[in-house]
Amino acid sequence: MSELVFPEGFLWGAATSAYQVEGSPLADGAGVSNWHRFSHTPRMTHNGDTGDIACDHYRRWEQDLDLMAGLGLQSYRFSISWSRIFPDGTGRINQPGLDFYQRLVDGLLARGITPNATLYHWDLPAALDDRGGWLNPDVAHWFTEYATTVFRALDDRVPMWSTLNEPWVVMHAGYMAGEHAPGHRSTWEAPRVSHNLLRAHASAVRAYRAEGRGRIGLVVNLEPKYAASGRPEDVAAQARAEAYMNRQYLDPVFLGRYPDELRDLLGEAWPAHADEEAEAESLREPIDWLGINYYTRAVTRDEPGDLPVREGRVRQERHTHTEMGWEVYPPALTDVLVWVRDRYGDVPLYITENGAAFYDPPVAEEDVVEDPLRVAYYRDHLRAVREAIRRGVDVRGYYAWSLLDNFEWSAGYAKRFGLVHVDHQTQRRTPKRSARFYADVIRGNGAAL
Ligand code: NOJ
Repeated sequence: MSELVFPEGFLWGAATSAYQVEGSPLADGAGVSNWHRFSHTPRMTHNGDTGDIACDHYRRWEQDLDLMAGLGLQSYRFSISWSRIFPDGTGRINQPGLDFYQRLVDGLLARGITPNATLYHWDLPAALDDRGGWLNPDVAHWFTEYATTVFRALDDRVPMWSTLNEPWVVMHAGYMAGEHAPGHRSTWEAPRVSHNLLRAHASAVRAYRAEGRGRIGLVVNLEPKYAASGRPEDVAAQARAEAYMNRQYLDPVFLGRYPDELRDLLGEAWPAHADEEAEAESLREPIDWLGINYYTRAVTRDEPGDLPVREGRVRQERHTHTEMGWEVYPPALTDVLVWVRDRYGDVPLYITENGAAFYDPPVAEEDVVEDPLRVAYYRDHLRAVREAIRRGVDVRGYYAWSLLDNFEWSAGYAKRFGLVHVDHQTQRRTPKRSARFYADVIRGNGAAL
């Protein structure tokens, strides 16, 4: 392999998720989701923004597929909305909901774009939330029923699946920090939610083994933690933060045990399972690939704040920060890929999300949005991926987050992550400079870097 280009067959794509782009959340018999309910609750999102319209992708999907083809995308990572398929969460199937994804998948294949489908990207049927959501142990059965239905409908044409997107965020933002649906703040709930997420994941993977023909994986967000100093207190804080965010899901999935630090962190909130070891071991279910969402790193010191971890973040003033306040630090992407390989072994890896929200100027007359910081972000992070590959890590693909400016959860439409600018008044799409840059990178399999 030349130093410059990526391995042959490296998969280049972009990602979105259902609630963030589709709009029309109640169309064609869909049920209410937790995010529909949450975004319609006063003061839960910036500006009161909701996903009612989003990018109107539910109606404009064909135009969006043409856009993807125009950029030369080889794969598209999207998520399926559970409440479109099961309006009540379980039981009755809503065929028009399934039909939407049938059309989408057929449209992708017709354009030579490989579908990569995520089963759960944070929009839970509200009916299930009413039954306890991720706190209810039955969620593993509900999820498996939904997953099996979708596998049966689409597996003949979808070669890549993932169960959950970022279980840590589902748990932490949803049940610990109260920033995402359902908006709880409970140290007691958090580990139970994590456990049920992992049980649901493992159960869906087992169901896939029974009838699936493609490859199934899990998508986690990883944020490497660096100790702010060599002081033992800071080193211990680093280990706690890493266990909580980066190892909480991967240790059970790959090693069949929870990190020891979690017990100490959560104290009395840690669930007392009758047989701890058997319980954790049951979560270990081989996956075909692992997706990593990477945005930033953290420099960590011992501090009373940020429960339960007591993680103080030391802001790196000399580095660029995105509009989310996240430090731009590409070397951590190489580090985290090497770390995953060293700790968990040689599972095929995909960067399932990487990208940045920056301020974008208005659309210029020549129909482009100049976004030099985003171009630099992509260039430097792709080089970091290439460096990991050079060090022998088996990275098989990369998905930019995101194809379109979209609904950034509690930040609403204020934060723009798109390669393609979306005018949220007119729904007009304009590829940014970063989209053209990415298209060049894809065309040369990385040579443009
Ligand atoms: C990760 C999430 O999967 C996605 O939904 C979100 O928009 C991006 N991070 C950016 O915050």
